[in-house]
Amino acid sequence: MARSGAHVIVVGNEKGGSGKSTTAFHLAIYLLHAGHRVASIDVDSRQQTFTHYVRNRRAHSQERGVDLPSPKHFHLPSAWGDSRRENDQAEFDVFRRAIGEVENTADFVIIDTPGFDTNLTRLAHSLADTLVTPVNDSLIDLNVLARMDAETGLPIETSHYARLVQRARSERLAVTNESVDWVLVRNRISMLGSRNARQVHATLDGIATRFGCRVADGIAERVIFRSLFSSGLTVFDPLDDEAGGEGSSVSHVAARQEYRNLVASLNLPIILSPAQAVAEPMLLSA
Ligand SMILES: Nc1ncnc2c1ncn2[C@@H]1O[C@H](COP(=O)(O)OP(=O)(O)OP(=O)(O)O)[C@@H](O)[C@H]1O
Ligand SMILES: [Mg+2]
Repeated sequence: MARSGAHVIVVGNEKGGSGKSTTAFHLAIYLLHAGHRVASIDVDSRQQTFTHYVRNRRAHSQERGVDLPSPKHFHLPSAWGDSRRENDQAEFDVFRRAIGEVENTADFVIIDTPGFDTNLTRLAHSLADTLVTPVNDSLIDLNVLARMDAETGLPIETSHYARLVQRARSERLAVTNESVDWVLVRNRISMLGSRNARQVHATLDGIATRFGCRVADGIAERVIFRSLFSSGLTVFDPLDDEAGGEGSSVSHVAARQEYRNLVASLNLPIILSPAQAVAEPMLLSA
């Protein structure tokens, strides 16, 4: 498949519930608010969390009569036929069409991937300029990246997901001569420092050294993230009481700052021009 001219950010981790969809959606809305043209592709055909997030945002925007920027969004067909091969082909066709449609019109393409391995998950990883892997603040979650030595806490065996990323990187290198910038992002960080958090930090550093990836500033555990989904809002949107809950403002501002720090550490090619200040209309593919 031809490489997109847009900067492709893939959010992936085989660990379910690590915060992929939440992070992907926040990155998309952050970049839109910053004036970029953003497209998104939901490769999670089962849960389609990102797609539901976009739909909720559109509904909220219409109900409240507020203008909320949304990405030009594509998702895979949710109907499952009897033939696995035909399903795979249908998904691949939608994905290829989505990439083809946005490669020259978007500045950024955000791809949200499922917590399991599919052909498209692998293909998406091989298109990534930047791969963001949210990891929860737990040693159990790090096992999805590498098996650890119980005594030293250092990685001793590469996991299925890390191998998937390594293969995607090699493929991309062979085709484009460029590597994937793989960034591990701590998510749901406990606000209370603990021995576990320090161990997680040290282990992540060990994993980053072993796999040639980076560890970025992360996002704290905040109740606000759970209440945003139903209204399709992010911490970058003006939040009303219903969406953010009482007393959300301090948490809201702090979460915004954490995302700003995260985006800064992603080293994205961010260039603002007045022509990019208008967001694309929403397109939810059938
Ligand atoms: N920083 C955070 N603080 C609190 N809750 C969070 C945070 N990030 C994500 N969550 C919550 O964790 C849950 C899982 O998040 P999300 O759906 O983004 O994960 P995922 O990796 O996409 O999951 P899946 O593997 O099932 O696709 C959601 O309920 C979400 O609201
Ligand atoms: Mg998800």
